[in-house]
Amino acid sequence: MRYVTGVLRGTVRLIGRWQAIDGISDAVSDLVAKLTGSTPVKNLLSGTFMGHPLHPALTDVPIGAWLAATTVDVVAGERDAAAAQTLVGLGVLAAVPTGISGSSDWSTTYGPDKRIGLVHAVVNISATTLQAASWLARRRGHRGRGAVLSLVGLGLTLGSAYLGGHLTLSRGVGVNHTAFEEPSEEWTDVAAEAELGPGSLTRVEVGGVPVVLIKRHGEVHALSAVCTHAGGPLDGGTLDTSGCVTCPWHGSRFRIDDGSVQRGPASEPAPRWDVKIEDGRVLVRA
Ligand code: FES
Repeated sequence: MRYVTGVLRGTVRLIGRWQAIDGISDAVSDLVAKLTGSTPVKNLLSGTFMGHPLHPALTDVPIGAWLAATTVDVVAGERDAAAAQTLVGLGVLAAVPTGISGSSDWSTTYGPDKRIGLVHAVVNISATTLQAASWLARRRGHRGRGAVLSLVGLGLTLGSAYLGGHLTLSRGVGVNHTAFEEPSEEWTDVAAEAELGPGSLTRVEVGGVPVVLIKRHGEVHALSAVCTHAGGPLDGGTLDTSGCVTCPWHGSRFRIDDGSVQRGPASEPAPRWDVKIEDGRVLVRA
């Protein structure tokens, strides 16, 4: 077992160091970023509209459909050939939005994550092509050939799922970057109100948690300063006239009064802090 683990980890490490693919990777990524850059598209593909990343939710559909199709092939054979063909087709259809949402997420990654993500995508495209060929073969009456194509495609999909899981669970791509903060629920004195200029973004720390203070229209707001999307510094961002702060890394936009996401790629809101002013001092608590 340790041998298998070593091979898998070694393979992923090699892909992560494969700088030769950076040129093509960056070119494709720039194109994807351009195509998915508008706010409605980004909010849809990132899952901002439902407060949860979209891609991991969608992946269950093609993986489940193709796994079920191969199971039907093995268990029922000719008897349920129509059901297996339907499952293969369902998986192919579901793979399209799944891939598009994944490519949008991938366009905001860098270095080893971007390389692993590109290989993940290429393997998935290959797997989907095999499943589409399987559907066609089944439709023409070549059930056996279709079953073999599906089995090979499923193998590729599971290998690719390993890479996707590695990106999320080992590399932290797509996780809420404030998830492990332990914000204090005690009122904590963090600054003098007079130090906060109108429209300023001021970073302070409360028990090791970075917080950004924002003064707008004479009122002070506080959000966790770490962007939930990938950890960008919100205090390095910009405050707009609608009362939103924009992350400098990938343009996620959060309302300063409640932390809600107005634009992805973030899907999780920025944790909001209570603020009170006492004797000219700013106090905050989670
Ligand atoms: S880190 Fe990606 S938008 Fe903030």
